[in-house]
Parts: sequence; structure tokens; C-alpha cells
Amino acid sequence: MKNLLVTGGCGFIGSNFIRYLFTEAEFNGAVVNVDKLTYAANPQSLADIERVFGARYRLYPLDICDRDKLAQLFAETQIDAVCHFAAESHVDRSIAWPDDFIQANIIGTYNLLEISRQTKGQVELFHHVSTDEVFGSLGREGYFTEETPYRPNSPYSASKAASDHIVRAYFKTYGLPVTISNCSNNYGPYQFPEKLIPLMIINALEGKPLPVYGDGKNVRDWLYVRDHCAAIWRIMRNGRRGETYNIGGRSEMENITVVEMIAGLVDELAGSRSKPRRELITYVTDRPGHDRRYAIDSTKIETELGWKPEESFASGLQKTVEWYLSNAAWVNSVRTGEYQEWIRRHYG
Ligand code: NAD
Ligand code: DAU
Repeated sequence: MKNLLVTGGCGFIGSNFIRYLFTEAEFNGAVVNVDKLTYAANPQSLADIERVFGARYRLYPLDICDRDKLAQLFAETQIDAVCHFAAESHVDRSIAWPDDFIQANIIGTYNLLEISRQTKGQVELFHHVSTDEVFGSLGREGYFTEETPYRPNSPYSASKAASDHIVRAYFKTYGLPVTISNCSNNYGPYQFPEKLIPLMIINALEGKPLPVYGDGKNVRDWLYVRDHCAAIWRIMRNGRRGETYNIGGRSEMENITVVEMIAGLVDELAGSRSKPRRELITYVTDRPGHDRRYAIDSTKIETELGWKPEESFASGLQKTVEWYLSNAAWVNSVRTGEYQEWIRRHYG
């Protein structure tokens, strides 16, 4: 896997993955980053990586729905493996605007698979990054395993489920070497502040309301993003082709607990206000079709590939709050929309 095509590499997990490859993994190859540069993308997240590893890193601003341009890229560039992150990723947006999700997540994945298949063996591995949301919602008991039937509930999770099935079909029907991972909720540096954790950190800092959906007792299984990146790389190197691996943090938390922890950490690290920030918590109307509980059984990746998360939720959350506090330039650029101006200036 000398030449790796990473899709969605300017997003949250994709940029952390590219950073992980260059700075922590035993990776000596080159990365081609294909990204449409949507609102969720920020090429500046990789500015330092580009500076230091520029000879081995290249960004192609490209929509994976544009099959002709993708095919041209594959024809002109040696691609040994694909790690596919690119997707519309926010559940609330999928409820408001499902169209983009169907296009990017289903058609985009299909295009990549089809072009990879047509390379006739050049692509040694297609790794598809997916989500635990494809399994639907759990009650109080039980965990998602790799055998859990798919029951997606939102346009986002349904589009990811569809893409998982197409990836699997390309393995079964055409023998394209694939691996799939279904991961729980990630958090950490460079996450766009529409998702729960960065939104709450930034609102807490600015003294704005902390909007908690419904009764706040929905449960998510949190995983620090670096641990997810390490798991993906392990699957790509050692995972069995055609297999799916669940990845989770064994770190279940109710949303309200997460928000209270963030409010407390911001009080501690950013200096207190006249009132504790937990008083900013505001219960708001619930998300339609809101899944109650996600929890991953990650026994397979732990026993087969020896992966385990290194970060606990407490240590990961502290690192994350510290990161947002000490990266005000990144936060401001995203908050003010300056990053979009920068993209327009550099990429048209
Ligand atoms: P993100 O929204 O932060 O980033 C997505 C990236 O994909 C952006 O850079 C965007 O520009 C790019 N993109 C979107 N549509 C594109 C298109 N048509 N062509 C090319 N690029 C396009 O998302 P994320 O949170 O980093 O998630 C990355 C992947 O991981 C997604 O596939 C998501 O389903 C999956 N995932 C995310 C989580 C999580 O907690 N964030 C958990 C499990 C799995
Ligand atoms: O489980 C993996 C998934 O995790 C990924 O596939 C998705 O791409 C990612 O966005 C995430 O989905 P969620 O919907 O779980 O993440 P989000 O951060 O939007 O919400 C987390 C929980 O917090 C969820 O129960 C809804 C709630 N929430 C969210 C926001 C933005 C609030 O209570 N208030 C909020 O303002």
C-alpha cells in the first residue's frame, strides 16, 4: 500500500487519519486526498502536514460523484489502496436535506468501487469507513456485533447502510478486496462544531445555551478519534479481506453526562464565569427518529487484530477540550466562515 487514496481527508476523521499515517504509523508511502471541500472540510487542518510531508501528500478537490474525473485521476495516478471516508456525516442535516446524503454516500461509494474494480487488480484494498448507526437503536441491554441485522433509522444511516451493502457485494461478486469498519461516535481535534462535543465546548466557552435534545438520556459509545485511526490502519494492514470489524470505545455515556462533563472542564480550564456553565444547559425539542442507545461489542477487532482504545473517555475529553482552547485560530476560522473564503481563494 505505497500509494493510498484517502477520500474525505479534509474532514474530521480523514484529516486525523492522514496525520496519524505520517506522524505515528509505519507508513512510507504517499497519500492522495480526494475531497469535495464541502462545508465540513478544512484543508487548513492539514497545513502542517502539507508543509513537512508535501512531497508525499497531495490534495485533489474532487467530488466522488463525478465519475469521469475520478476515473481520470485513477488513470493518471498509481493507486494501490483506497481508504474511503468521504460522506455527508451529520444526522440532523440528513433529516433536513437527504438528497446530498443519497448522492455522496451511495452514488459516490458506488463510483469509487466501480473504478477500483476496473483497475483489474491494481487496487489491493478498498477500506470502507462506516458507522454503528446502520444497526439502528438498542434498548437498555445488549451490544451491536458484526452479526447484528441492519435497521437504519435516519436518511444518514440508511445511506451508509446502502453503501456498506454495495461494498460487500463488490467483494462477493467481483472479488474486489475490501474491508469494512463500523465505528461508534468519534470525538477529538478538528471536529466541525455541528456535532455534540465541539458544539458544546464552543458554546460553553462563549457563554451560549447548551442545547440538549429530548430528555438527554440517549446513550452514545464514545471513541477518541486517534484510537479510531489506529483501528482502521490495523484493519487495512492485517484485517481479513471481505470482513467487517466493529470499532467502539466501551465508553457508553448519556448525552446529559457528556454535556455536564464538558461544562465542568471548560469552567476548570478556561476560568469560571459568574455562574457555573452547567447552568447553560437547555433542553430542546428532540431529533425526529432519535436513536436511543448505541453500544459496540468490539471483541472481534480486539481478539483478532489486538486493537484496544488507548484513551479513556475522561482523558480523551480533557485532551479535546484543551485542544479547542488552545487552537483558537482554527476555531475562529470555522466559526466565522473564514475557512470557506480560504478554500475559495486557493481552490476556486
Ligand atoms: P466529516 O463530515 O467531518 O467529513 C467528511 C468529508 O467528506 C469532508 O471533508 C467533505 O468535504 C468530504 N465529502 C463529502 N461529500 C463528498 C463528496 N461527494 N466527494 C468528496 N468528498 C466529499 O465526517 P467525519 O465525521 O470525518 O466522518 C468520516 C467518515 O466516517 C464518514 O464516512 C462517516 O460516515 C464515518 N463515521 C463517522 C463517525 C463520527 O463519529 N464522526 C463515526 C463512525 C463513522
Ligand atoms: O455513531 C456514529 C455516528 O456518530 C456517526 O456515524 C455520525 O457521522 C456522527 O455524526 C455521530 O452521529 P450522532 O447523531 O450520534 O452525533 P451528534 O454529535 O450529532 O449527536 C450525538 C448525540 O447528542 C445524539 O444523541 C444527539 C445529541 N445532540 C446532538 C447535538 C448536535 C444533542 O443533544 N444536542 C445537540 O446540539
